[in-house]
Amino acid sequence: MGKTILTGLRPTGNLHLGHYFGAASNWVKLQDDYDFYLEIADVQALTDNFDNPDKVRKNVYEITMDLLSIGIDPNKVNFFIQSKVPEIAELTVFFSNLVTVARLQRNPTVKSEMAQKKDLFGNNGESITYGFLGYPVSQAADITAFDGELVPVGDDQLPLLEQCREIVRKFNSIYGETFKEPEQILSDATRVKGLDGNEKMGKSLGNAIYLVDDDETIRKKIMGAVTDPNKIKKDDPANPDVCMVYYYHKLVNNPNNVETICAECKKGCRGCVQCKGALIEKLREFLTPIREKRKYYEDNPQLVQKILDEGTVKAQKRATEQMKKVRKAMKIDY
Ligand code: TRP
Repeated sequence: MGKTILTGLRPTGNLHLGHYFGAASNWVKLQDDYDFYLEIADVQALTDNFDNPDKVRKNVYEITMDLLSIGIDPNKVNFFIQSKVPEIAELTVFFSNLVTVARLQRNPTVKSEMAQKKDLFGNNGESITYGFLGYPVSQAADITAFDGELVPVGDDQLPLLEQCREIVRKFNSIYGETFKEPEQILSDATRVKGLDGNEKMGKSLGNAIYLVDDDETIRKKIMGAVTDPNKIKKDDPANPDVCMVYYYHKLVNNPNNVETICAECKKGCRGCVQCKGALIEKLREFLTPIREKRKYYEDNPQLVQKILDEGTVKAQKRATEQMKKVRKAMKIDY
């Protein structure tokens, strides 16, 4: 077996194209060559959804089905549920001594999430909870409880990985060499823009295309996508680089077509309605095999449960071994 890969997802909603192109499509490519653990991070999801346990529970299954439907093979990847591996929570407690509150408050990912969640944490973050502020510590435990060496994520997660490495260095320097410092693996497209042209596609931004969207939903979303605002008439020349329809063509269409679209758009011989229609068709082609696979798992919920159960057993074994090392290093192996 190759190196250990650990990555995770918060079960708070379905996968969208941002997740897919930003990270998850890369997991499919990596699954053959590594010892791969894929965490459904329900405990982390609860840090900002503590008041909505039904949502988190439902999405554990939704997101697992989404991941299976894009071709993540449960024979190659250990799916597991974070809360079912309590060693992670134990390690989080030990790690929390090694991190200052100020350092967590400066974490760029935490800062930008706090800014997005003003309703929950107040305008200046005055209502932030201990649990949410500390989730980077818990994420460091997610990775190190399995001695994760490689972490394939979108670039929004890099500050969390940096924080993890700091914790690892501190732990190793105090208690002796115990953990490896994990490295990131970034995919080619690290961030996917939203339908509104926003730099990031996100559920909370309301600008996402989901893998579970049906044809009609996709049609409506693409028809409303941001195009070059200077193009008024069908045969005005336009700038494809500011157009979201062109941007998504680049993700799901083939390079030859993309070149033609670009040239026609610049020349003014391609109407937006035609261009949107072509994109809708390409998205349908892209989603067809994903929908078929998903339907299979929707019809076999006991299979989804079995995949989670079996992966979780393997994850528990690995974390149990790792925690023996940790307790020994910390001289708490009574
Ligand atoms: N924070 C990640 C997200 O919001 C999810 C996650 C939890 C994760 N644990 C992880 C990612 C460990 C990488 C490694 O998507």
